[in-house]
Amino acid sequence: MNPIHPALARLARAAEHQDFAELEETLHVALRKPTWLRPEHRVGDPKAYMRHLLYIDPKDAFVITAITWLPGQVSAVHGHHVWCLYGVAEGELTEDQFDPDLAVKHTLVYRPGDLAERDLEQKMIHRVANRGRTRVVSLHLYGIAADHLTTGINRVYRA
Ligand SMILES: [Fe+2]
Repeated sequence: MNPIHPALARLARAAEHQDFAELEETLHVALRKPTWLRPEHRVGDPKAYMRHLLYIDPKDAFVITAITWLPGQVSAVHGHHVWCLYGVAEGELTEDQFDPDLAVKHTLVYRPGDLAERDLEQKMIHRVANRGRTRVVSLHLYGIAADHLTTGINRVYRA
């Protein structure tokens, strides 16, 4: 893995310290000015949204990933096993939030530079989708070791 991009270094430091106020602020800056975004992070997979690993914490406490969503791509209805913060760098991302009975509570649309609603206590049930016509790149931090990235984050309610 390449050394961390300077624009993400402050973000990683805040995540190391579990300083969530600082984390939100630095994430917001990284979304409004995505100098860290390289062409390969815009590469999508026609089969499903695609994760690009940007940084792995050496102590395995968190990862920073970009996710590329091609038009029409959607996540499962899920909650999280770990803390999660994310926002949008490019395109327009839609988030449906669900109540415990899995009825849609409300729908939010996030635009470039927007921070999504936080879920630091693993209470959120949501579904994230690209319902637009252009690709979306979002930036995510998860409190998890990279080895568990594919299975350890999401608690799936409905695929
Ligand atoms: Fe999620």
